[in-house]
Amino acid sequence: MQTRVTDLLGIDYPILQGGMAWVSTAPLVAAVSKAGALGIIGAGGMDANELRENIHQVRAITEKPFGVNLMLLSPHINEQIEVVKEERVPIVTTGAGNPARLIDDFSKSGILTIPVVASVQLAKRLVRHGIQAIIAEGMESGGHIGEITTMCLVPQMVDALDIPVIAAGGIGDGRGMAAAFALGAEGVQIGTRFVCSNECQIHPFYKQAIIDSQDRSTIMTGMSTGHPVRCLKNKLTRKFEELESLRASREEIEALGSGRLRRAVCEGDVEEGSVMAGQISGLIHDIKPVSDIIQQMIEEFDNTIAQLTLFQKE
Ligand SMILES: Cc1cc2nc3c(=O)[nH]c(=O)nc-3n(C[C@H](O)[C@H](O)[C@H](O)COP(=O)(O)O)c2cc1C
Repeated sequence: MQTRVTDLLGIDYPILQGGMAWVSTAPLVAAVSKAGALGIIGAGGMDANELRENIHQVRAITEKPFGVNLMLLSPHINEQIEVVKEERVPIVTTGAGNPARLIDDFSKSGILTIPVVASVQLAKRLVRHGIQAIIAEGMESGGHIGEITTMCLVPQMVDALDIPVIAAGGIGDGRGMAAAFALGAEGVQIGTRFVCSNECQIHPFYKQAIIDSQDRSTIMTGMSTGHPVRCLKNKLTRKFEELESLRASREEIEALGSGRLRRAVCEGDVEEGSVMAGQISGLIHDIKPVSDIIQQMIEEFDNTIAQLTLFQKE
C-alpha cells in the first residue's frame, strides 16, 4: 500500500496511531510501528523525563519509525520540544493549537512536523510554513475536537492543498479507511480503535466502557470554553452539562475537567473520569493485538475497494 504518506514516513501501511495523552505510551506505540504502521507517543501529561523514557522504550523494541505528539498547551511543552530534538525523533504531530513557530526549527533538526488540524484556513497557513503532510481531524474523533465532520473536512482539505492529507476521526475498520481514501485522503489516523488493543496499557474498565458503548454513547463537553472534548457519557459529562446549562464561568468548567483523563485511564474510574473516545466506539466489540487490528483493517480495505469496483462493472 504505497502512498505519498507511506513514502514520506517510511512505513508499510498508511495508518497512523493517533497520539493520545496518558494512553499511547511505549508498548502501544512500539507494537503499532512494529506492525508496519506509525505509532505515536502521546506526550501530553508527560514531563521531559517520562517522554525521554518512552522514546527509549520504543527504540528498545523496534527500529521502525515512530512519532511523538506534542500538545501545544501542555505546561511541559518547552522541555518536550528539547527532548524530541535531542533524541532526534523522526516525526512530530501537534495538537491543541498552531505549531507554525516549531516547523522550521524542527525541520533544521531533521524532524518532520505533521500538524493535526480541524480547519482548511489553518491548514493553508501551515502549508505556507513548509509542512509536507497534514492530519485533517473531524469532530467524530475522541479527545479535543473541532467542529467539522471528517466527511466534510477531508475533501475540502484535499481540494485546497497539494500536500497529502491524512484523515482522522470516525475510522474504526477497513470500510472507514476506504471511505477516507474515496474522499482523497492518502492515509488515516486512528485513535479509539487502538485504545481497545492488548498492548494499550490502560485500566481495563476504560477499554470495557468503549466495548459496552453504542452509536449515541459519546458527547461533546466544554463547548462554551472553546476547547470541546468528545468522551463517553457518564456522571462527569452530566456534571459538565449541568454547569454549562447554568452558564458557569470558563474557569469553573475547566476546573471540573482537570485531571479527569488520568483518573479514567489510570484508576479505571469510568464514571467520574473523562473517558475520551470517538463516535466510532459503538463499532468496537473486542480487544485484540495491534497486529490483528492492522491486518484486518487492510483486508477489509482491499475487500471494500474490490466490492466497489465490482459494483462499477455491473
Ligand atoms: C483517549 C484519547 C486521547 C487523545 N489524546 C490526544 C492528544 O493528546 N493529542 C492529540 O493530538 N490528539 C489526541 N487524541 C486524538 C487522536 O490522536 C486521534 O486523532 C483521534 O482519536 C482519531 O479519531 P478516532 O478516535 O475516531 O479514531 C486523543 C484521542 C483519544 C481517543
